[in-house]
Amino acid sequence: MYAALTLFFFMCLTTSTHADHHQPCHAPNMTGFMSVMSMKGEMKAYGAFTYDSMGKKLRFRSNESSATNASHSMDLLMFFEEGIFYEIESKNQSCVKKKLHCSMHPLDIPDDATFSTKEHSGSAAIEGEGLQLDVWTGSMPDKKGHYSMSVTKGCLPVFTFYFTESTSFLFRTMEIENEIKDPDLLAAPSFCVEQPVEDTPEGTVNGFLNEFV
Ligand SMILES: *[C@@H]1O[C@H](CO)[C@@H](O)[C@H](O)[C@H]1NC(C)=O
Ligand SMILES: *[C@@H]1O[C@H](CO)[C@@H](O)[C@H](O)[C@H]1NC(C)=O
Ligand SMILES: *[C@@H]1O[C@H](CO)[C@@H](O)[C@H](O)[C@H]1NC(C)=O
Ligand SMILES: *[C@@H]1O[C@H](CO)[C@@H](O)[C@H](O)[C@H]1NC(C)=O
Repeated sequence: MYAALTLFFFMCLTTSTHADHHQPCHAPNMTGFMSVMSMKGEMKAYGAFTYDSMGKKLRFRSNESSATNASHSMDLLMFFEEGIFYEIESKNQSCVKKKLHCSMHPLDIPDDATFSTKEHSGSAAIEGEGLQLDVWTGSMPDKKGHYSMSVTKGCLPVFTFYFTESTSFLFRTMEIENEIKDPDLLAAPSFCVEQPVEDTPEGTVNGFLNEFV
């Protein structure tokens, strides 16, 4: 577990080293569903997300009715630009506000990603039976892990893999709509607003991915 946190930490410190003329696209505003699976086959979470592409805000609420093995329901509100996020517990109206150390997340391609390939899933020849994907990859500076993101022509994320030595994850998105259907989901609930930022224990790195480790 500590190793995984360390890897994500290194990943966050990655800076752009090459000037690729082929720049990654950025996902638009979106509403949809997302599943998170570990490569051991464990379903970590499934739920609805709302994403503000310009404001760099993400809400993810796990869907308790589905067969996940999460120890608790998950409700995350990430403010990537401000560098903070909330772990929300609507049931008892409690909220934890934390400092965000890593802005990497599976819905948006990092600016320093490398274009890997264009591929046609399903059939390119049969009308309506194929999906053209652009695949973007990046490696962690210590070369002990990497990610791979597949997006549609319009930059909608389809799936994202994170591979590290200690753990690997697959994020998939479904039923995406190209709009923010409920903007209120991207505002902190009233019971969160007054919350002070919680101290981060030494050695802990907070990021969207780390919530699933
Ligand atoms: C995305 O959503 C934000 C927040 O609602 C809005 O300000 C922005 O204009 C939207 N962008 C587009 C391209 O619709
Ligand atoms: C749920 O997690 C427990 C403990 O990690 C594990 O023993 C069990 O096999 C998991 N079940 C499923 C369905 O993934
Ligand atoms: C759970 O998922 C289903 C679709 O798979 C959706 O219709 C339903 O609204 C979801 N519930 C919540 C609370 O997200
Ligand atoms: C609210 O519920 C969560 C999860 O059950 C728990 O961890 C937390 O301590 C509770 N907070 C309050 C203020 O009761």
